[in-house]
Order: sequence, then structure tokens, then C-alpha cells
Amino acid sequence: YVNPEGVNAQPDPLMTARDMRVTFGRMAMNDEETVALTVGGHTVGKAHGNGDAGQLGAEPEGAEIEDMGFGWVNKTSRGIGSDTVTSGIEGAWTTNPTKWDNGYLDLLFKYDWELVKSPAGAQQYAPVGIAEEDMPADAEDPSQRRMPVMTDADMAVKVDPGFRAIAEKFAGDFDYFSDCFARAWFKLTHRDMGPKARYIGPDVPAEDLIWQDVIPAGATGYDVAAVKAAIAASGLSTSEMVATAWDSARTFRGSDLRGGANGARIRLAPQKDWDGNEPARLAKVLDTLGPIASEHGASFADVIVLAGNVGVENAAKAAGYTVDVPFMAGRGDAAQETTDVESFDVLEPVHDDFRNWLKKDYAVAAEEMLLDRAQLLGLSAPEMTVLVGGMRVLGTNHGGSSDGVFTDNVGALSTDFFTNLTDMANTWHPVEGGYEVRDRASGAVKWTASRVDLIFGSNSILRAYSELYAQDDNQEKFIHDFVAAWTKVMNNDRFDA
Ligand code: HEM
Repeated sequence: YVNPEGVNAQPDPLMTARDMRVTFGRMAMNDEETVALTVGGHTVGKAHGNGDAGQLGAEPEGAEIEDMGFGWVNKTSRGIGSDTVTSGIEGAWTTNPTKWDNGYLDLLFKYDWELVKSPAGAQQYAPVGIAEEDMPADAEDPSQRRMPVMTDADMAVKVDPGFRAIAEKFAGDFDYFSDCFARAWFKLTHRDMGPKARYIGPDVPAEDLIWQDVIPAGATGYDVAAVKAAIAASGLSTSEMVATAWDSARTFRGSDLRGGANGARIRLAPQKDWDGNEPARLAKVLDTLGPIASEHGASFADVIVLAGNVGVENAAKAAGYTVDVPFMAGRGDAAQETTDVESFDVLEPVHDDFRNWLKKDYAVAAEEMLLDRAQLLGLSAPEMTVLVGGMRVLGTNHGGSSDGVFTDNVGALSTDFFTNLTDMANTWHPVEGGYEVRDRASGAVKWTASRVDLIFGSNSILRAYSELYAQDDNQEKFIHDFVAAWTKVMNNDRFDA
């Protein structure tokens, strides 16, 4: 949110410029896109503050049922047209506010602007000595002319040196400005639709745009069984294969459908250098998988996922079960040139409780961050539970930490995490940096654990899921549920399929 009256309603365009950069930066907008959107947006329409804001009714959620979802209804005036009060700021930005033109920058640069109060009492800027013909027509009565307006954010476009240089370029080149606005608007309204494979209809632009995280189509005709055999013979451990496939897929965000295993961007900057991906281990695994991919005509992205599948199948076998983890070929490999490094930075995992890892200590509890990642990955609570319990015994903890690895048989897809978590023979004790699990009878320390491990025993709902998997006739169900949740994560981003 950018307060149009200034940060904390204290007008200061340079401070507001800072807020604009933060707010638009979160939407992956750079300075040029930010200026284009603000200038272009305010080329049409007006701000509404012609009246007493104190007369407005309750907000939408607090309003009467007959207001039908509208809030801030003004029942003491018409409440519409020139009597509208919304932001409290009053006026249009341009002389012709129903026309796409360069009128915003014309007025912004032509006049000095001074701080005034709107009829509703809001801080806004008015031009000094404006010529009659530059004044916007009244929204209802075109024979009347009104004062135009600039908010603190509009003044930031003029006052902040970085924004101003862009605005001056736009002022001198209307076509360039229009193109920048069109592109930024398209990005604003489509970025959270995810990859282009999700677009439909005749208006889809042919041009590929970097923020679409472009991924070329991958091969499907290669021999999957041969690739799996080569991976199995490569000498990689179960935990290396599973952790790498997981890291490749875990960047997926259901919130804006970015990230995921498709594209194999884990081998590109910035992902290859993220702490969460354990760069040294990652480089070793990629060096092994790369030649397998090229030799068999498969994409790197597919081979990373297949390695995870091989790891899970081996782990099931070690627990006495034969499973075939479903696989859908056809992932492509993205290029470094079509990877928007800066906007990928925000996908960096700074915690991954599926791998029992926090980059540092946070004010937010680890188990809450687990929920955040689980919901971004589209996982239900049972799916989250089965994945955490399974990954612990596969030895996929970040940095080889042994927290939560409640088993003597690391690498076998057993229910040991759940049986030991719910076993009343164990007692749980806070110690420096985490928890100890001790034998109730002897007091001997058996394992260490994190808050995330304990939450599956302490939270009543998660404990119920843990008890289900701890049940001694549910090992097969556990393996099938694990494989289903695993496959879901691996395929989260397969919009192309
Ligand atoms: C820092 C950024 C921005 C601030 C602080 C800001 C602030 C405001 C305010 C206070 C209003 C008046 C609302 C009212 O009283 O009814 C307004 C209206 C408007 N804004 Fe923005 N805005 C910003 C960016 C944008 C962007 C990026 C767009 C679109 C690309 C946009 C498009 C509009 C339009 C079209 C109106 C007029 C609506 C109408 O006629 O009812 N604004 N803005």
C-alpha cells in the first residue's frame, strides 16, 4: 500500500518514492514499469473527495445488508458524481481525463504544485497559476472547469531523480510511454496467471516476455526406463536424488503459479547458489545427471524428477514394497538469458521444514512456516504429514542434520518417524537449539528433534494423521500416500500437460 497523502499521511514525495519502490517491487515492477503504471493509470479518471468524509457510512463488511456489499455509502448527499467521497482526494490529473494522452506529464512538468487540502480534508497538491484551458472539465457539468490534482505519489514521479529521468523520457516520447504502459499493464494483470501455457484465446501476444518465466517444450519420446536405469547405476544416494528433485520442485507457488521443477532452473543463477539448495551437493548431483540427460535426449528437468522417483522407488524397496512412481515426461530446460534473476530472488526458500531447515532464526515459528510452504505447494494437512514423515527417514534433511530422523534404517521408506513420534516409551525435552527424545525408562537420549518434528505429535489434528501412519497395518497405505503426494509436488507446474 502506498498512502496517497504521504508515508503516514506526512507529505514527502521522496519518502513516498521509497514506498512505491517497495510496493511495486513486490509485484516485480522496476522503476520504468512503476512510473509507466502510475502515469498511465492517472491519465484517466479522477480522485473523489468532494464532501465531508465523516458522513460516510460503515465499511463494506460492517454496512447494512441492503447496501449489498458496498461500503462507505454517503446517505447525507447524493453520494455519486461530483458528490462522491472515496479516497478524500479531489480532482482529475489531466485536462481530458477520458482520453489516453500525455496530459498527465504535460501538467506535472508545466506547473509548480503546492500542498493544499481537499474539501474532505486530505493532503493533495494543486498547480500554481494554472491557465483556464488546462483545467479539467467537471465530471458532470462540462461547462465548469475544476482544479487538477497530484497526490504525493504523483509528485514522487517529478521529484525523485530516478523516476523523473524516466518521466522526462516519457514526456518527450508518447509512443514509447504508451508501449511501456501497455507492457506494464499486461504484466500487472497477467503475471499471477503463471506460464504462457495457461493463456487461452485469440489475444495472447506472440512475443515471449521474460516475466512469463519462459520454458521451451521438452522431449517426450525418449526411453524412460533406460534413463532410470542409468540414474540407478550412477552411484547417487537415495537422499541426494530425493533432495535434489524436491529442491527443484519446491519453489512452486500456488499463489502466482511461478517456480517448480519444469525448466530445471535449479541449475541456473540464482537458484544454483541458494543456501537452501546446498550448492556443493547440488553441483555434484547435476554433474552426474547432466550427461544422462544429453545421452538419452531427455530434458535436464525430467531427469532431475526421474532421479527423485528412482530414489523413492529404491527407498520403498528397502522397506519391502515395490512401487512405480508415476511420471509425466515433457519438461523443458529454461535458459539463463530467459531467467529474470532479480524476480527469481524472491522465490528463494529461506526455510524448508520438509528438509528440517531454517536459514536463520525467525520471529515466526518454524511450524507456521511449514504451513506456508505446504499451502504454496497446494498440499493438504495429510499430504504435508506423509511427506515430512517420509522425507525424514530418507535422510533428506538439509546439511545432513539428524533432527527428526527417528530411525536406524535411513533410506528405507518406513513409518519409523510416526511410530517413534507417537510411542509413549519416548519423552520429549527442550534443550539448547531444539529438543531431545529420551527413553522414558532409562533416560538415555535416543534422537534430537525440531519444533517441526514435535508439532506432528503435539497438535491434535496432526497427531491424528501421525497415529494413522504409525498404525502397524498402514505401512503400505503410507507408501502409497507418500508417492501420491510426492507426484503431486513434482507435477504442480505441468500446465503444459
Ligand atoms: C503509488 C501508486 C498509486 C497511488 C498512491 C494511487 C492513488 C490513487 C488515488 C488516491 C486515487 C483516487 C481514488 C478515489 O478517490 O476514487 C486513484 C485513482 C485512480 N488510480 Fe491510482 N494510485 C496509484 C497507482 C495507480 C496505478 C498503477 C494505476 C493503474 C495502472 C492507477 C489507476 C487509477 C485510476 C484509473 C484512478 C481513477 C479511478 C476513478 O476514476 O474512479 N493508479 N489512485
